[in-house]
Amino acid sequence: MSLISPEVEALLYLVAAVAFILALKGLSSPKSARRGNIIGAAGALVGVTTVFLAEELKNVGWILLVIGVGTIISVPASRMVKMTQMPQLVALFNGVGGGAAGIVALLELRAADTLGFLLAVAFTIFVGSVSFSGSVITFLKLQELMTTRPVLFKGQQYVMGALTIAALVAAVIVVTQGNAVVATLLMVAGLVMGLLIVLPVGGADVPIVISLLNALTGLAVAASGLVLDNTLLLVAGTLVGASGTILTRAMASAMGRSVNNIIFGAFKGGSTAGSTEVSDRPVKSGSAEDVAILLGYAQKVIVVPGYGLAVAQAQHTMYELAKELEGKAIEVVFGIHPVAGRMPGHMNVLLAEANVPYEVLQEMDEVNPQFKTADVCLVVGANDVVNPAAKTTPGSPIYGMPILNAGDAQQVVFLKRSMRPGFAGIENELLYEPNTTLLFGDAKETLGKVLSAVKAL
Ligand code: TAP
Repeated sequence: MSLISPEVEALLYLVAAVAFILALKGLSSPKSARRGNIIGAAGALVGVTTVFLAEELKNVGWILLVIGVGTIISVPASRMVKMTQMPQLVALFNGVGGGAAGIVALLELRAADTLGFLLAVAFTIFVGSVSFSGSVITFLKLQELMTTRPVLFKGQQYVMGALTIAALVAAVIVVTQGNAVVATLLMVAGLVMGLLIVLPVGGADVPIVISLLNALTGLAVAASGLVLDNTLLLVAGTLVGASGTILTRAMASAMGRSVNNIIFGAFKGGSTAGSTEVSDRPVKSGSAEDVAILLGYAQKVIVVPGYGLAVAQAQHTMYELAKELEGKAIEVVFGIHPVAGRMPGHMNVLLAEANVPYEVLQEMDEVNPQFKTADVCLVVGANDVVNPAAKTTPGSPIYGMPILNAGDAQQVVFLKRSMRPGFAGIENELLYEPNTTLLFGDAKETLGKVLSAVKAL
């Protein structure tokens, strides 16, 4: 017997749905993101609790046991994971969501009676399993448990074509006959399809594919809402599907690429990853004291943070240096590229951790005209986002991506450990310019030395 009336159930689902919408609104700005996250989690808690109150559930003990096991695994995993490993974690959580939706739909096939119901079942099984296996591959690639380069075999597009036809035929049989064996085969086709879609994607594009798979999981969950006759799943899945699609498009456009090119680029022969060879061309390197002098006598410094700042966890030292320079009446601005780092908003989150005020973080369009008037551009662990090849080298994996015009500053200083390229795996001509100085070493260590040297000026 259910413990609440259908009206109260509907009301609680409405509360949860509104919480999800408010959560998305909160997540759209670094200032309100923490609040958005908490509202979203509270909405999810209301949603899950409502199921226990409203439904006549069987096997409650088993359900609670599985929730307990999931909690024991995911809470420490989320706490331990480093900021730079967040995309992998999102990929895993996303895959599990898609897989769960697929399995639920497969089990609900027995109860399917109408055409609409069967359509939703077939869709959820297929899309959920594509999302599951695709997400597992994105996890393995980002965690570097397998090669991050595109994986292709001869005739892959024909296998894809044959698989698409087989999946369509299987889906038609499931919809018209509700056949459970064919539904299982449809799931297998989805799993293989997920592998074949993600394996050819190069490492630099994997975070975008995660976002795309996230959108697919949202659609699968929305369809499972139809299967289970649950409005909240329908609303939540649609929100995830829509926001995932918008994020995918925004990321692709910030990288100057089309989603089509990202997924099918390798099939067309153009690898989406560059070479990772280390260059031995001569560069001008300097000491921390040299860099301190450049900074100490500047009037305006633009800091360009990138993935290396996150790896080095140098955000606190970076902010200390910025404050020290400001104390000497030097203007310091942070130029944030939309795809700096490895996930959307990566630099904002990182710098917020060090309490850098949002006002000094400037977006690309705002900061780009200012490089001409800057005495020094301090590039801390960034590479691709300032690489002029994006403007000058057609055929380069980053060609067409808008960049920060670091090269327009009077002096450019790169803080990096070696001559290794950035994530796209390509040379950066800016490193060889006469007004560029390289300070080699881990960013936290070198920034610490520069800070001491600036203090001593
Ligand atoms: P990258 O081009 O990957 O460059 C990172 C730089 O940091 C490298 O030059 C590396 O050189 C240096 N580095 C690494 N560890 C360091 C450490 N401990 N101390 C000092 N330096 C360190 O990063 P970026 O400029 O931020 O560009 C981001 C890339 O990721 C772009 O290609 C972008 O398209 C791609 N991407 C981003 C996203 C999102 S949403 N952010 C999504 C998909 C793809 P060394 O190894 O020599 O130190």
